Amino acid sequence: MKKPSFITFEGPEGAGKTTILKIIAEKCEKEGIEVITTREPGGSVIAEKIRNVILDPEHTEMDARTEALLYAAARSQHFVEKIQPAISAGKIVLCDRFIDSSLAYQGVGRNLGIDAVYDINVFAIGNQMPDHTILFDLDPEVGLARINANKGREINRLDVEGLEFHRSVRAAYLQLADKYPERIHVIDAAKSVDEVVKNVWSILQTSM
Ligand code: TYD
Repeated sequence: MKKPSFITFEGPEGAGKTTILKIIAEKCEKEGIEVITTREPGGSVIAEKIRNVILDPEHTEMDARTEALLYAAARSQHFVEKIQPAISAGKIVLCDRFIDSSLAYQGVGRNLGIDAVYDINVFAIGNQMPDHTILFDLDPEVGLARINANKGREINRLDVEGLEFHRSVRAAYLQLADKYPERIHVIDAAKSVDEVVKNVWSILQTSM
């Protein structure tokens, strides 16, 4: 990898983003590349507190706009406090979910519109889009079956949405990949962990 970059991992629940991100970070470290890993919503003390408010399964009355604004608020704090300083220090940032999650889940899943959600995020973080985004594409039925099989995983307020919601999120991600073909790289997350790691690594090697 040649230049410092801000790389995000996106996709539906159960697509394996978090596992693969960890493996890629370890590969980077072995190569002597300075890397930080982080996640959204969360990634800093204040943003993690906002995360707890957003994802609490008891908060069933949360309005869609409130939800979108809270994700953007958490993102703003996380960005200023953690991502921006790491980029400025020349590190590679690997972030589990970022703005595309809001565009797909709130913009399309919650029907707020991609443009409206994009605008509040521009207010939150300026025009700082990721340099590269790996989109883990997976049939939501497969993803939801994976998370249901993983008994240790906490079930959050968005996981319990119906299949239709998750299908619309997947379609939105693919629509975003068409819109930003230079930035968003789609990979088939139904493949084995080894194959997915190989694909992600080769994308990162060739795109930087
Ligand atoms: P998390 O447990 O981190 O899910 P995952 O392991 O699938 O990444 O929960 C994050 C949830 O929040 C997930 O359901 C996606 C959702 N989300 C949004 O709806 N909008 C956003 O902007 C972000 C960052 C996440």
